[in-house]
Amino acid sequence: RKQVRLSTLKKMHENGEPIVMLTCYDASFAHLLDEAGVDMLLVGDSLGMTVQGNSTTIPVSVEDMEYHTRCVAKGNKTAFILTDLPFGSYQVNDEEGMANCIRLIKAGANMVKLEGGEEICPLVRRLTAAGVPVCGHIGFTPQSINTIGGFFVQGKSDSGKEKLKREALALQEAGAAMVLFEMVPADIAAEVTQLLHVPTIGIGAGSGTSGQVLVLQDILNIYAGRKPKFSKNFMEGADSIQGAVENYVKAVKSKDFPTQSHSF
Ligand code: KIV
Ligand code: NA
Repeated sequence: RKQVRLSTLKKMHENGEPIVMLTCYDASFAHLLDEAGVDMLLVGDSLGMTVQGNSTTIPVSVEDMEYHTRCVAKGNKTAFILTDLPFGSYQVNDEEGMANCIRLIKAGANMVKLEGGEEICPLVRRLTAAGVPVCGHIGFTPQSINTIGGFFVQGKSDSGKEKLKREALALQEAGAAMVLFEMVPADIAAEVTQLLHVPTIGIGAGSGTSGQVLVLQDILNIYAGRKPKFSKNFMEGADSIQGAVENYVKAVKSKDFPTQSHSF
């Protein structure tokens, strides 16, 4: 496979080919996921839970994200690497946000992901101008768990729907090259995807987005605790981890995943 670039992802979006993303935190899995045809590896701050054993993503540091990005970049050959800005690394001011994104790009990220809408737009604009592609993350934003108060679906009310639309359009206008929706009703994710020209990625956002992402541990059935409704055990019917990941890639590409039972 040829190197997946931002232009490749744009082309896939234009051609209606779903973009396949999975979280990835180390070199072994980066190699396996890349070989299995995953388009984008997300070095998510979910590593605070899956790798570090915390109950939220809040404790994760820039050093942690830098370390795991380096590990993933070493194992990867062709996939596009997206790394999360952890909580606290872009909230103080845009100077700190810029400096921290640059650290992650130097560690091997091809794009950075930030949670938020209008409030992050000035930083999105500066990053884009500096040559750093940005993915905005809206809907359920785990770094704000303390204000949201729990793992709730976002954008169910009329005002919530309007907020999602406003945020997605503002992010795109500020230069975001991608928008990710977490735990939002399928119909609103599909509607906002149609409003935008940049690709969208969903997790618990139905089948109307330009691509899908899940947490690696969830699809391999090695999550600790309750399985989220939007996830699926791809080890079922597979005889190896490689096979499970290949089945996930196939299911997203053929639009067999997610079904309504994985959506809100
Ligand atoms: O950190 C992560 O894994 C994420 C996905 C859930 C989208 O941000
Ligand atoms: Na994240």
